[in-house]
Amino acid sequence: EKVCLAYSCSVSGGLDTSCILAWLLEKGYDVVCFMADIGQEEDFEAAKLKALSVGASAVHVEDVREEFVKELCFPAIQCNASYENVYLLGTSLARPVIARAQIAVALRENCVAVSHGCTGKGNDQVRFELAFYALKPDIKVIAPWRIPEFYNRFQGRNDLLDYAAKVGIPVSQTKAKPWSMDENMAHCSYEAGILEDPNMTPPKDMWKLTVDPQDAPDAPENFTVHFEKGIPVKLEYENGKAVSDPVQLFLTANAIARRNGVGRIDIVENRFIGIKSRGCYETPGLTILRSAHLDLEGLTLDREIRALRDQFVTIGYSRVLYNGLYFSPEREFLEASIVASQKTVNGTVRCQVYKGYFSVLGRSSATEKLYDMDESSMDIIGGLEPIDSTGFINVQAIRLKK
Ligand code: ARG
Ligand code: SIN
Repeated sequence: EKVCLAYSCSVSGGLDTSCILAWLLEKGYDVVCFMADIGQEEDFEAAKLKALSVGASAVHVEDVREEFVKELCFPAIQCNASYENVYLLGTSLARPVIARAQIAVALRENCVAVSHGCTGKGNDQVRFELAFYALKPDIKVIAPWRIPEFYNRFQGRNDLLDYAAKVGIPVSQTKAKPWSMDENMAHCSYEAGILEDPNMTPPKDMWKLTVDPQDAPDAPENFTVHFEKGIPVKLEYENGKAVSDPVQLFLTANAIARRNGVGRIDIVENRFIGIKSRGCYETPGLTILRSAHLDLEGLTLDREIRALRDQFVTIGYSRVLYNGLYFSPEREFLEASIVASQKTVNGTVRCQVYKGYFSVLGRSSATEKLYDMDESSMDIIGGLEPIDSTGFINVQAIRLKK
């Protein structure tokens, strides 16, 4: 029987998934490895060679960066998605496109099963597997870290190292980091290991995407984001450069935020399965694009649409993504609502980043009809009869006076 295994070498030098690969072979499976290029730092050629040397019958690398930006990151920006008010969902957003590409490879290779190296305590197992079952209901899932025979045999890193030596898996010389990471074009996450103590301040050299805000340039950097229907369509930066292609725009936003130390958070969150978890995240480009979008909505979005959207759509979409329910009717419904909410969100936001901070310098929109400078002015009457407000207040006060 053939299995498609999600393989990675950027995670702990590939020790875990290489051992899973060898173990699946030992169990008699024919194993095809799958790797997604979602913008993480990974030497795909070296990983490919390693998987083949362990015994994979093929290795497929799928570039999912463009669909990740367009189908996941952009809707997240459009609805200002965040989980528990702070986490911008970097890992959650990546899982649907990775799972979809893995299922496509599994189908192409006639695999009866898919496998992954997620632990039995996390969100990712839920996200991957709900996506697998939604896309291919009869697929078999092999999750070794939930199989007693596997987790009783491999209780720690030393057991994995012993097994690697026994079956001839080359172990990279780089010392394992005392935390677990997950990286993609939107973010890098750090969890577990020494971070499990929520009161332990992460070491300065943990963060890999952004410079320490204290070491960021002493001069602020300005840039301008143009939005159409809530989607970033152009980024102007460095006095005269401009970029419009979605992937390039996103990467440019990343570069600006990274060199200015923007986008770090350190939180304790509630995982779907009910466990609390401490996580540190750096989400450079998404942080600034989302903040610019949020600002433009102040100028261009109707008050009631905004209130309903915040209460139901933003919260709903964020939770659906966090909980791994992307391939669901509720996500389709929420996404249609996001699009419907963004008709008027067109315009330009002039932004600044400086030593970890993002700020807005100004915003404008050629199409908006909601903000009337005369009407809003404190200096002229501008259409509203002030006496009408007396009646408005009197009526609002009826109930309170009782
Ligand atoms: N806690 C975050 C989330 O659930 C990050 C998960 C990181 N995943 C990983 N395999 N290291 O989205
Ligand atoms: C894991 O448990 O495999 C990573 C963390 C998570 O999925 O939440």
